[in-house]
Amino acid sequence: MFKKLAITAVAALTFGAGAATAAGDSGHKMHDVDFSFEGPFGTFDQNQLQRGLKVYTEVCSACHGLKFVPIRTIGDDGGPHLPEEQVIEYAKNFSVVDKETDEDREAKPSDHFPGSALENAPDLSLMAKARAGFHGPYGTGLSQLFNGIGGPEYIVAILTSYTGEEKEEAGTTYYENTAFPGGWIAMAPPLYGEDVDFDDGHSNELHHESEDVAAFLMWAAEPKMMARKHAGFVGVLFLTVLSVLLYLTNKRIWSKVKGPKKKH
Ligand code: HEC
Repeated sequence: MFKKLAITAVAALTFGAGAATAAGDSGHKMHDVDFSFEGPFGTFDQNQLQRGLKVYTEVCSACHGLKFVPIRTIGDDGGPHLPEEQVIEYAKNFSVVDKETDEDREAKPSDHFPGSALENAPDLSLMAKARAGFHGPYGTGLSQLFNGIGGPEYIVAILTSYTGEEKEEAGTTYYENTAFPGGWIAMAPPLYGEDVDFDDGHSNELHHESEDVAAFLMWAAEPKMMARKHAGFVGVLFLTVLSVLLYLTNKRIWSKVKGPKKKH
């Protein structure tokens, strides 16, 4: 019985882990990226988040907002973890409307990032969670346990799947993109590679920049992921110990009734 259960569990887990690529809604093959924050013990890579923040700031923020993210959180441990003075300096990049005076002023760490500057560009605060690229074999979600939900992979795919074709419809230019459902997106290719210089000397090829900004957006959407995983792990450990204790207690309680086997 136990053996059978164990075999089933192992089979299910390897099956889930093996499903490294899955089709997105568009039928486009979503490639798994081995992000540091995936898997039961994954953590965000602070340097990667800092690089991603730079890509967001210098490129994406021209159009996209992050209105649910308080600026001060880029100083948080487990996030980009910028020193306090840098967070204060960073906030000055943005201007916000003061709630009391109704006038524009420089942002402070206590403010949120601004909303989207371009009307038809969606806010990116929750994008990495809103777009799941992986659904797991038969929707079990097992692959997600090991490979994540695929949201960051979807963002990487969008940024790297332009074909170069353009078309104009009703005054709007659309760009062919094989990762976007429908195949044509209204966002001009935002990255070509070598768009930003990273302070840590990391490669700024297109796919690196894309992965870094995708990781940053995952953090923005779920900054407490590590705490959640940790709590989950403690919970599982606790339940395991409890189960063993209950099993032993149960045996002991019934041992008097059942008695030692075969007396006759
Ligand atoms: C020039 C403005 C502009 C810039 C710069 C820009 N975007 Fe966009 N983005 C858009 C617009 C417009 C859309 C909506 C496209 C559509 O729905 O067809 C969009 C959509 C998106 C989407 C959503 C796709 C979906 O599934 O709906 C993502 C993700 C995205 N952008 C990420 C980024 C990232 C990351 C950057 C920075 C590297 C960036 N964008 C830079 C204008 C921009």
